[in-house]
Amino acid sequence: MCGIIGYIGNKDITPLLLDGLQKLEYRGYDSAGICVSDKQQLKTVKAKGKISELAKKVKSKTLNGAIGIAHTRWATHGEPNEANAHPHLDCKQELAIVHNGIIENHQALTELLKKEGHKIKSQTDSEIIAHLVEKFYKNDLEAAVRQALKLIEGAFGLAVIHKDENKIVVARKGSPLIIGVGENEMFIASDIPAILEHTKRVIYLNDNEIAVITQGKYIITNLEGEQINKEVDEIKWNVEQMEKKGFKHFMLKEIMEQPEAIANTLRGRIKDGKVKLTVDFDIQKINRIIITACGTSWHSALIGKHFLESIAQIPAEVDYASEFRYRSPIVSSEDVMVVISQSGETADTLAALREAKVKQAKTLGIVNVVGSTITREVDSGIYLHVGPEIGVASTKAFTSQVVALLLLALYIRQQQGHEIDKDLLKQLDKIPYQINQALKQADNIKEVAAKFVDSKNFLYLGRGLNFPVALEGALKLKEISYIHAEGYPAAEIKHGPIALIDEDMPVVFVATKNNLSQKIISNMQEVKARDGNIIAIVSQDDKEISKLADSIIKVPEVIDELSPIINAIPLQLLAYYIADLKGLDVDKPRNLAKSVTVE
Ligand code: F6R
Repeated sequence: MCGIIGYIGNKDITPLLLDGLQKLEYRGYDSAGICVSDKQQLKTVKAKGKISELAKKVKSKTLNGAIGIAHTRWATHGEPNEANAHPHLDCKQELAIVHNGIIENHQALTELLKKEGHKIKSQTDSEIIAHLVEKFYKNDLEAAVRQALKLIEGAFGLAVIHKDENKIVVARKGSPLIIGVGENEMFIASDIPAILEHTKRVIYLNDNEIAVITQGKYIITNLEGEQINKEVDEIKWNVEQMEKKGFKHFMLKEIMEQPEAIANTLRGRIKDGKVKLTVDFDIQKINRIIITACGTSWHSALIGKHFLESIAQIPAEVDYASEFRYRSPIVSSEDVMVVISQSGETADTLAALREAKVKQAKTLGIVNVVGSTITREVDSGIYLHVGPEIGVASTKAFTSQVVALLLLALYIRQQQGHEIDKDLLKQLDKIPYQINQALKQADNIKEVAAKFVDSKNFLYLGRGLNFPVALEGALKLKEISYIHAEGYPAAEIKHGPIALIDEDMPVVFVATKNNLSQKIISNMQEVKARDGNIIAIVSQDDKEISKLADSIIKVPEVIDELSPIINAIPLQLLAYYIADLKGLDVDKPRNLAKSVTVE
């Protein structure tokens, strides 16, 4: 949610910053801007729209300098236009700020600053930071930022430059910020992809830390000014993983790389008929597991609940992180809070985690991004290891989360001294191969997509473990094709949604073979009787269900526990092809951002 990059060094700064913004575009893309200091003045260019619009405008200007900051915006306060784009400057145009987050008391601060004669030009909450720093500036940027921060309430990842100072001052509370350490050059960024091409050495700032960055040095302090020594981490991702590698979109690439991604999630975790995980608390003492997450990760949590209850025999609850944090949940030291997050930065999930910690729960994170805030705050964790997920719509993270949750349930069962289902383990080990088989349906799915590309509404239905898959299929379609879609437990439709069904309503049934197949067939008949148009995801050798469906998509037959992984694949592809056939920007759907670091 909003992307920040900054640089101090000898490289050609404008292409470097623009390239960094491009890599952060998944975080927001309604406007962008860049500001470079040549030690005499600040030169700023901003544009409405994507980074490519900014790049066109920058071409006609000379923006040389050794220090610069840049920003790609996901609007919270104020419409997406040039005035609201960052960087924001003070009245004298001597200092510039870029900000990711929300300043909650911006109205009160705006009143105060206006009374003092500051001219606020934008509708954003962020611009007041520039004016506050200006108010306190007396030839010491760091001191002025510190004073400004004392007045600010809310969340920020912040970078500030001043034309007279050879430094970038950065601060973090609630919104991610990293420092990239180079050879006689330094970077700051919201996320690793922006700087990976230049350095793999990063420092993760924590909340309430301030860093002063000069060309060869960084000093990190807390709000009281005490110096903090932090480790430099080495990033394991490589630049190739950040590229589309010939695919039209990152989303398609990420769907297609699921066999490898899931193999990476499994690597080293199944050995000699046992599950190997590192959980640093006593599993025997678990009373209950609460799983919190948002969006797609919440869907995997629903599947995780099934696993934890049926395999580990532990009561499990699932909560939207945004709801959990505000409803005085009853949590004790015998509960374990599992937080699931691809990015590891989702504000609501992080807040739910912190709430659980205050209530003494043990915490475990299932996270993809190494070093992200959630991974640094949980007691224990399971990394997904699926590599960077850049398409805004989550795909490989979802299937990997399901795998991680299954491993967790099996692990708990095993640690409780019970036998675990060896056959299930064997099947799980083979799942990358089955995913590969499912992906071979891509051409067929494209044809199905072409039939329904003009539909205005979709229903997605599934039962048991595949109800969350139906929810996930509907979410994928909504996000990237802007078609209204609802997911329901199949048997629930007769309690309301069946009223929607007519010949214009495509109904996607997740109907692979399991003990509920006969029930699903009855639900299909109810839809058929009302002229609904059925798209069915069925097992490879199915004959019966296929007779009821108007379009069928076959997937390899797997045991029930693994069916959500396989069944998610055609739904991801269906959403992808519909959105692509509509000519939409699949990787950057309107109004969305990959990492939601505001409430
Ligand atoms: C859907 C999607 C979002 C995220 C949600 C949580 O495709 O990407 O719904 O799943 O914002 O994000 P993480 O998993 O990063 O916490």
